[in-house]
Amino acid sequence: MPEAIRYAVFPVAGKGTRFLPATKASPKEMLPVVDKPLIQYAVEEAIAAGATNLVFITGRHKRAIEDHFDSDLELEELLREKHKTELLDVVHSLVPDNVNCIYLRQGEPLGLGHAVLCARAVVGNQPFFVHLADDLIDAETPCLEQMRQLYEETGGSVIGVQPIPADQTDQYGIVDGDPLDDGVWRLRGMVEKPDPADAPSNLAVVGRYILEPQVFDYLETIERGAGGEIQLTDAIAALLVERPVRAYRFEGLRFDCGSKLGYLQAGLHFGMKHEEFGPAFSEYVRGVVAAESS
Ligand code: UTP
Repeated sequence: MPEAIRYAVFPVAGKGTRFLPATKASPKEMLPVVDKPLIQYAVEEAIAAGATNLVFITGRHKRAIEDHFDSDLELEELLREKHKTELLDVVHSLVPDNVNCIYLRQGEPLGLGHAVLCARAVVGNQPFFVHLADDLIDAETPCLEQMRQLYEETGGSVIGVQPIPADQTDQYGIVDGDPLDDGVWRLRGMVEKPDPADAPSNLAVVGRYILEPQVFDYLETIERGAGGEIQLTDAIAALLVERPVRAYRFEGLRFDCGSKLGYLQAGLHFGMKHEEFGPAFSEYVRGVVAAESS
């Protein structure tokens, strides 16, 4: 039985330039989809997969993330006085008592790989999840839990992938692999943002990883790659020469909330399925569509 995964790393130190001006002074990960910030969806997914240590790699202007997960005694007192018990439960239970939040600072945004490497001092010699909060995935079984179930069979690293249109390969890390099972590949290679003509497949890496700690050794030594950044993709490409790495096509709908279009689509999707006002919102949307097409 492979070692249980207790650590989840959330790299949240990026600048979020595609979302300016919204992200000038506040973190992209705090953008709400309906009533929850992206980072909260991320944390809930990791906890559902068994993580009990949440490691946030933060940077400038990211204080709001720490504040969000801290308890706010004044707010709780106010809600108690006003007998708003449901809201009190909501703010009180953001992070269960058995879960630790750990914040590390990435001094300079040198890339996703560098952000993950910052977690080494805390994660040490254990397997860990990496979760990119701006890739929001709606799935019956949370995506990291699907990946954990695959990991549980044999251990090794697992990379979440999704088929994308062939002309978009230059926006993603793309994997090259041999099929093992339905939706599972043994990885042979991985390239960051290849031209469609050079892409080994149309399977894109979309922000969910289970990594063995050996990846830290490669992150320490690899050169800067695409965009002058230390790329996680390059370290995984080196890791897979020595260790088993599988790509896994998860079940679920994914929204790229780092882009404005993807974020709008997520708002629509989660709004229409919202327990309380989903039906009313869906009716409104149908009305708008009908008016547009008449
Ligand atoms: P992105 O490529 O989306 O970059 O990073 P970004 O800066 O967040 O956004 P844009 O492209 O400028 O709009 C992918 C993930 O890696 C994290 C980001 O926070 C995001 O979750 N990241 C990236 C870091 O934590 N540190 C870095 O140096 C770079």
